[in-house]
Amino acid sequence: MAVGAGQITDAEYEAFRQFLAKACGIVLGENKQYLIASRLGRLMLENKLSSLGDLVNKVQQRTNIALRVQVVDAMTTNETQWFRDQYPYEALRNEIFPEFVKRGERRLRVWSSACSSGQEAYSIVMTAMEFNALNPGKTVEVEVVATDISPVILTQARRGAYPEVAIKRGLSDARLQKFFRRCTDGTWEVLPEIRNMVSFREQNLLDSYGALGKFDIIFCRNVLIYFSSESRENVFMRMGRCFKPGGFMVLGASESLSRFSNAFDMVRYGNGVFYRLRANPMTFIL
Ligand SMILES: C[S@@+](CC[C@H](N)C(=O)[O-])C[C@H]1O[C@@H](n2cnc3c(N)ncnc32)[C@H](O)[C@@H]1O
Repeated sequence: MAVGAGQITDAEYEAFRQFLAKACGIVLGENKQYLIASRLGRLMLENKLSSLGDLVNKVQQRTNIALRVQVVDAMTTNETQWFRDQYPYEALRNEIFPEFVKRGERRLRVWSSACSSGQEAYSIVMTAMEFNALNPGKTVEVEVVATDISPVILTQARRGAYPEVAIKRGLSDARLQKFFRRCTDGTWEVLPEIRNMVSFREQNLLDSYGALGKFDIIFCRNVLIYFSSESRENVFMRMGRCFKPGGFMVLGASESLSRFSNAFDMVRYGNGVFYRLRANPMTFIL
């Protein structure tokens, strides 16, 4: 029988909260027992685990990495859409790309740092293509590194084929016709020339970013809202060290850089903001 929310003891709940925060940064609020029961019920059944305590014990053993990955995967929220909130992409097209072109920097590395099923990364490439079509002779070349903690969602992202229901979330008909082709199974596939500009990699935001290199633009959207303020600041501090000089940071609509805001200038754009790294961001060196 699957575990019910009412069967989870306070001690089990606390142990699971601690496990999850340590594994991926996500902090479960009070009384989320129902969420655990609904997201992990099937996994517990399959693994013949009769209590949340048993699950916590099991995922903490070094030999159970696969289960650990599945648990984190089940607890993350992969909600995303094309051109989410619109203003980040308009800011890219009208402010950020033109500024790089003016500086003579036309080859741009962009990090989509919690990319989910790929919509954010592909929207960035499509925006660059639209920018280039409007600005012949002043084009940019983008290389997007798209990362996520979830190997399952990354498989979907790499494939770049979406069912109608996902396509409808934020994509205009004009963009659908221009950037996708219809597959025989009824899904819509991102054109290969767009897919080739994105490389997907597994990356836990709590781990070192050393292997990723330096970036001109970082998108870190709608993931750190689930983290503690301590983990959030730690991620910002380490991301700050991943920028090339004069880089840009784009956060989720309800997010801000908190303590690190003095390393960036905040630029208002449409109904949102983006951040420009200051010339001498001492905060990140401390
Ligand atoms: C809500 S989605 C946001 C997707 C996209 N950035 C957007 O704004 O539409 C959050 C993503 O963060 C990923 N995630 C959660 N914890 C993570 C961590 N510690 N490291 C990397 N990715 C993480 C989840 O797997 C999920 O795909």
